[in-house]
Amino acid sequence: MSDLYAVMGNPINHSKSPQIHSAFAEQTGQDLIYSAILVPLEKFSDEANSFFRSGFGLNVTVPFKEDAWQYADTYSSRALRAGAVNTLIKKEDGSIHADNTDGIGMVRDITVNNGCDIAGKRVLVLGAGGAVRGILEPVLEEKPLEVVVANRTVSKAQRLAEDFSDIGTIVGCGFDQIEGQFDLIINGTSASLSGELPPIPESVIHQNTICYDMMYGAEPTIFNQWAASHNAALTLDGLGMLVEQAAESFTTWRGVRPDSAPVISSMRNSLVPAKA
Ligand code: ATR
Repeated sequence: MSDLYAVMGNPINHSKSPQIHSAFAEQTGQDLIYSAILVPLEKFSDEANSFFRSGFGLNVTVPFKEDAWQYADTYSSRALRAGAVNTLIKKEDGSIHADNTDGIGMVRDITVNNGCDIAGKRVLVLGAGGAVRGILEPVLEEKPLEVVVANRTVSKAQRLAEDFSDIGTIVGCGFDQIEGQFDLIINGTSASLSGELPPIPESVIHQNTICYDMMYGAEPTIFNQWAASHNAALTLDGLGMLVEQAAESFTTWRGVRPDSAPVISSMRNSLVPAKA
């Protein structure tokens, strides 16, 4: 029988994980079935218990990433700090190990797929919610010169900076306190979901600045449109991060790393622009 994997979320119809993991399995010749499971709110642990009676590994998406963190028995270091996890794996003794592959997925997309170093760079991170908490350890492990976390609610940015200050140089501030230019700017706010831009000065961009929006869509995101219009050297969106976080989960589960490039490109081609 094929090994069973799944993604749990609510809603789950939109999830591209079954498509991505099926492509990885075919590419690497792994015998597995990956399905999408709609989980009623408040029912995560019941559904996970039932899945793990025969299943090997789970991905977890909105709104269950914190529930999955609570559910796990052991954690990777980055998952422990993130306080939320997207990957669960059943170990031989039956215990459940948790990882958060979102941050390493984004870092690999920037460094491996796009050949851009984070080491020694000045990095601006916009937002201080769960998504940003999930990426900070892998970003800081690349040894940037400094990470500035800017957020609408300043206290949340300061708190995050305190929580990660043992790994590297990191400060938290408000959007109106951002000073100087940055080599890499990461948009981790959910502002673009409502078509809004975080209010940051255009002077943060210089001629070699790379802008990364953790969101993606068929059209350039509003943040990336803003970055391109202020002459950013490169704008990247979160589609590569989506495929890379899946590749990282797949590698943990199966012990073989899939080639993400053809999957990113077919996912890109399948994005449908919104009708005018
Ligand atoms: P996620 O899991 O996507 O990170 P979240 O934890 O609710 O979601 O965090 C959303 C982030 O986007 C927060 O940093 C939020 O700022 P606040 O902490 O001040 O709420 C930010 N955000 C959402 N809408 C925004 C907007 N219109 N302008 C700027 N920041 C926004």
